[in-house]
Amino acid sequence: MPISSRSQATPSPVKLYDFHPPVEDFRSAVLRGLSQSQKTISPQFLYDKRGSELFDAICQLPEYYLTRTEMGILRAHAQEMAIALGNRALVELGSGSSQKIRILLDAAPQVKTYVGVDISRQHLQEACAALMQDVDGLEAIAVCADYTQPLPLNTIPELHNRPTIGFFPGSSIGNLEPAEVIAFLKTVAVLGDLIVGVDLKKSAAILEPAYDDTQGVSAAFALNVLTRINRELGADFDLTEFAYRAHYNEIEGRIEMAIVSLCDQTVHLGNTKISFEQGETIRTEHSYKYTIDEFQLLAMKAGFQPVQVWTDADQLFSLHHLKQL
Ligand code: AVI
Repeated sequence: MPISSRSQATPSPVKLYDFHPPVEDFRSAVLRGLSQSQKTISPQFLYDKRGSELFDAICQLPEYYLTRTEMGILRAHAQEMAIALGNRALVELGSGSSQKIRILLDAAPQVKTYVGVDISRQHLQEACAALMQDVDGLEAIAVCADYTQPLPLNTIPELHNRPTIGFFPGSSIGNLEPAEVIAFLKTVAVLGDLIVGVDLKKSAAILEPAYDDTQGVSAAFALNVLTRINRELGADFDLTEFAYRAHYNEIEGRIEMAIVSLCDQTVHLGNTKISFEQGETIRTEHSYKYTIDEFQLLAMKAGFQPVQVWTDADQLFSLHHLKQL
């Protein structure tokens, strides 16, 4: 339901459209995920306020090359990308701290409307408010939503009859299974063209430290979801009895992230008892890595035409401009 934060007690210029799934969805999704033979927690639930802060910290880690490499590519090619954007409204999926979009917006002053779509409401609002303050003449609109679900863009009056272009940086597309990538791209085809960041295949020696750093930030990020489940759903996970693990599965081309139970134990979530054997895992995330050709093939299966790809000199990361066929 659209809410204008202009009418709230603390005035903020950012307009918010709130499509956050209700907390009950979180409870049933967690219960369903933890009752499967491979226990699973969907990555979207990692991003509460603390989770978003920890993810921002991951992006600063020396081992996590993705963010700085993508920012380098954006800086190097911002002018070409600005031409691709034209004066369309720019819709960023998973807007995070919006650092990357600033590079594009600085290069494209003709873009006057920015729409940030993210599940983490507060983080999103703060990021949009900062953008409005810093970028002259920009209207920033916050859409709190799960962007993997069909986007209710038609309910946003600011976008009526406006051409849009989607920006999906960070290789978040890698957190979807390949079949889901095709479905996702078809869903976001409502945005028109897309610029998508995709992490490239490379050795486990580079990949694994990026997802399991020496400072333990990646571990804290994954384990924070148990704290969130304790707080929001009244569970009793003992965080000293769980650890974090990240492994590169070269055959599948993906980093597999999981929480591991350190002992046989039973956790309570409301009236439900969840048993863990020592060594049993809760899958939190997959992070797929693609070659340029592999990703372009997926995009074409979803009805997009790859028109341009930008990479860094070491071929660590790629940004793809996809057009609708
Ligand atoms: C959001 N996404 C692109 C990150 C990744 O690289 O797959 C999520 C992440 N999880 C732990 N580290 C990074």
